[in-house]
Amino acid sequence: MRQAIFVAATFFFLSCSSPENAKQVVMQYEIDSLQKVLQNVKPGLGELMLSIQIHHAKLWFAGKNRNWKLANFEVDEIKEQIEKAMAIETERPEIKSLPMINGPLDSVSNTILKGDSTRFISAYNLLTNTCNNCHKAVNFEFNEVQIPDSAPFSNQVFDNRNK
Ligand code: HEC
Repeated sequence: MRQAIFVAATFFFLSCSSPENAKQVVMQYEIDSLQKVLQNVKPGLGELMLSIQIHHAKLWFAGKNRNWKLANFEVDEIKEQIEKAMAIETERPEIKSLPMINGPLDSVSNTILKGDSTRFISAYNLLTNTCNNCHKAVNFEFNEVQIPDSAPFSNQVFDNRNK
């Protein structure tokens, strides 16, 4: 139905205005359609946060078990999701507060590169507090995160037993 209207509208513009105008109408229609498609396939901030939540939990068990390669992978996954949120969630005003997490993420990375368990635990605490500080700053304080008690998945190995 919408396509029929579009075809009719195109013919209308083709018949009554210059070819340039008709071309613009078609292009605008295509841009609008693409924007709609993008809106539907683009993950929302909540979905990106869900992914961050999973990597945040995995990071803890990898770091606690001194599985530094996995810990490094998990912290990088969080950084990737943060970068993605900065790039695509531009219409969300909360995004301005997101960079507060970059310093704590880098601190965690440094403790992993040094293989320093004690500092890893305090850097992870700071990271978790900063997640919550941002949630408070943008009125999502009811989304409170904490250090996890148990491994998030039983089908993944977090310790170094096979290394
Ligand atoms: C902008 C600052 C900001 C930072 C930094 C931030 N969040 Fe969020 N978080 C949000 C916002 C905004 C939402 C609500 C998203 C929505 O509208 O669905 C959210 C939602 C969540 C949720 C709820 C998802 C759900 O579906 O239940 C979790 C879990 C979460 N964040 C985890 C984290 C973790 C873990 C970190 C730190 C590694 C973090 N967040 C850092 C802003 C932030």
